[in-house]
Amino acid sequence: MDHSSNLSLREKVTVKKVSTAEEKEHCRAVRSLVFVEEQNVPAELEYDALDEVKQTLHFVAYFKNLPQGAARLRPYSSLHVGKVERVAVLKEARGQGIGALLMNALEDQARKENFHTLLINAQLHAAPFYQRLGYTPVGEVFLEANIEHISMEKKLED
Ligand code: COA
Repeated sequence: MDHSSNLSLREKVTVKKVSTAEEKEHCRAVRSLVFVEEQNVPAELEYDALDEVKQTLHFVAYFKNLPQGAARLRPYSSLHVGKVERVAVLKEARGQGIGALLMNALEDQARKENFHTLLINAQLHAAPFYQRLGYTPVGEVFLEANIEHISMEKKLED
């Protein structure tokens, strides 16, 4: 990624709620690079039926028209609770605020969808990232896809 314009990078990153097949393919490409290739998550675990459910919302972050990050949000168990999943930023684009922008856009949409609580099964190493964004750990560390995770939640305000 071009780091020369770091100061204004946040203004140049666009996060979109996915509405086209091409944008969805961009999400898949980011997840493939981050989860399947970098973290060795089996592809059959990474892509599941929930990706195709109408209620699942996908988000993609672009810099200079190139996809840099992705995330998804779906309704979870009871009314008004949403689950945040598959949050990923390409390795070379991390540490520049793209993950936070992605989460901000996802949360703005979650409020519009009337979710009052968001849940995340966070990879343990990423827990400080979510904590900075207002998520609180809940319960014990557990293994998923052979990676340590902890559940986290955030109450959304209007
Ligand atoms: N540990 C501690 N702090 C972290 C962190 C980490 N692993 N990752 C980010 N932060 C902090 C940043 O320092 C920044 O703090 P600031 O607001 O004081 O500047 C803040 O969180 C926002 O960071 P940002 O640059 O927006 O995060 P990012 O674009 O690097 O994306 C991830 C963060 C977790 C999405 C990214 O590291 C990633 O894709 N990792 C691999 C996939 C993954 O594990 N996803 C999580 C699945 S639950």
